[in-house]
Amino acid sequence: MVKNEIANILWHVSTLNKEQRRKLKKHKSCILWITGLSASGKSTLANALECRLNEMEVHTYILDGDNIRHGLNKDLGFNPEDRRENIRRIAEVAKLFVDANILVITAFISPYREDRKAARQLVERGEFIEIYTKCPLNVCEKRDPKGLYKKARIGKIYGFTGITAPYEEPENPEIIIETDKDSTEESVNKIIRYLLRKEIIE
Ligand code: PPS
Repeated sequence: MVKNEIANILWHVSTLNKEQRRKLKKHKSCILWITGLSASGKSTLANALECRLNEMEVHTYILDGDNIRHGLNKDLGFNPEDRRENIRRIAEVAKLFVDANILVITAFISPYREDRKAARQLVERGEFIEIYTKCPLNVCEKRDPKGLYKKARIGKIYGFTGITAPYEEPENPEIIIETDKDSTEESVNKIIRYLLRKEIIE
């Protein structure tokens, strides 16, 4: 869009705001931003967490890398610019969920610190919870559920995270899950305890 076209688009403030929507429910909303290498356990954790929150009658939704890349972001690849745009769009969508008072769980490699920081800055303080699924590269590579590491090693995938493309570890994530050590159940418990302590859920 060219500059003078943007100038013609004005922000429309809706009559109801997030706080008023929150009164309908017993919980607040936030973004649980799961980041980590391919096969580090992001989707497994996201799904187990969503099931637990659902049992607790918390309204959730998962945005997952593979799925979003089949629809909203199917025009994007894996070069640094496309990954940035991927994360930018996801963060904007996640922000809408926060506004709708839905607890949104995102599961994307999101390899660049700067892009994760930009996502964090879209929402209010405390509404962005970075969860790092920390797992050594050799363990992820051994798991290789989709055979992608193997393809990357023989040069059939160019720019694969951890092999021929970078992953910038979170420096100060709210939660670290060591998926080669912690069970999924323990990991979910850890996140639930965090959400209770921060009074996001009750
Ligand atoms: S990113 O970096 O955040 O934009 O990636 P994301 O949208 O999470 O997509 C990651 C999934 O895409 C598959 N895939 C690749 N990953 C990394 N690098 C390359 N080059 C690549 N090509 C395809 C892979 O299955 C990722 O899924 P997960 O669940 O992370 O293993």
